[in-house]
Amino acid sequence: MRDQGSGVGGQGLVIRGARVVVGDGTFLPRADVHVKDGLISAVGAHTPVTSDTIIEAWGRVLMPGFVDAHTHALWAGSRLDEFEKMRRGTPYLDILAAGGGILSTVRAVRETSEARLADYLRRRLEIMLHDGTTTVEVKSGYGLTTEHELKMLRAIARAAQDSPVTVVPTALLGHALDPERPTLVDDVINETLPAVHAEFPGVAIDAFCETGAWTVDDCRRLFEKASALGHAVRLHANQFNRLGGLELAVELGALSVDHLEATSPGDLIHLAESSTFGVMLPVAGFHTDGRYADGRAFLDAGGKLVLATNCNPGSAPTSSVPFVVAVAVRHLGVTAAEAIQAVTSRPAEMLGFTDRGRIAVGCRADLVLLRHADERMLGYEVGGNPVDRVWCGGKADERMSG
Ligand code: NIG
Repeated sequence: MRDQGSGVGGQGLVIRGARVVVGDGTFLPRADVHVKDGLISAVGAHTPVTSDTIIEAWGRVLMPGFVDAHTHALWAGSRLDEFEKMRRGTPYLDILAAGGGILSTVRAVRETSEARLADYLRRRLEIMLHDGTTTVEVKSGYGLTTEHELKMLRAIARAAQDSPVTVVPTALLGHALDPERPTLVDDVINETLPAVHAEFPGVAIDAFCETGAWTVDDCRRLFEKASALGHAVRLHANQFNRLGGLELAVELGALSVDHLEATSPGDLIHLAESSTFGVMLPVAGFHTDGRYADGRAFLDAGGKLVLATNCNPGSAPTSSVPFVVAVAVRHLGVTAAEAIQAVTSRPAEMLGFTDRGRIAVGCRADLVLLRHADERMLGYEVGGNPVDRVWCGGKADERMSG
């Protein structure tokens, strides 16, 4: 029988005899998880037999759906030629400095309608769900003008309406500079930010602090105004160069500093001692130049580590969280158990959700059943899809086996 899960109303669902990986670093070796009205209603061993739909896990791993907290999953155009240039040795930042990279995606996005952009994102959300992602953050940032940043944010909202995946938008207003528009930084701060605030009042504001992108002072001006308007702020910092963005983010109480490949041990301790999350994006190193952030040092210093795909056409063309875990285990010095927390409960906490990222009574039934009986397979297997079934709010992804 093909289960339809347990969406609002209707029959309940029991996933029986699973190894339950809770998401907070603990697990239950053999337990049943009951779902009713989209929520987890009971978790335990030897629960009573019910008339609900039953899925036998046969000891395989049941875990929370992945929360992918850093993506640029809305884009248009192709960067394949640039990828070949990178493979021949041209660095990512040189491509940007020559007017390509982020700027080539900006040109493509500006030429694409809001409806078409929403279609592109819908398709990518389907792929993400198939790989186990049930909540995803999606940034704007390829518009660079008020008109096109708003177009991107509206396209994200449109795609989110039709998808079972929960989508959290972020306004990446400081993503690049425009050589033909020297007033860009002032325009973004004085015009785009207020327009975004008026239409998307709760959205987080993001920037890319880097050589050839926004300076520390530019970011400070944007973030001080955004914070005064009540927005949380996030910063791409220390990806290639250590310019002082991390210190700024900590000083301003930013929600997160993302990337961190070019970070000294002292910086990681400074970040770990703050309330700001550290978001590491190992596929950027895998895809561009083989440099990775030091996840081990950050965790050992007590840091709040989040891992994410960074799904984008330039530095991380993947939407697979299992692949992120596999790269993190090999190159960031973290264990599979630590990586699993960094893609479930930690990012849920960072994005302000108390109802997901864990398997616990009362949480949303955003669940992933693996093909495997040992969660360490997530770090071990490379390039496949370890996910057998996914439920979003208790509703099964109907394309999965069953
Ligand atoms: O986080 N570095 C800045 N932004 C993205 C890349 C975006 C792109 O190259 O299109 C990142 O890696």
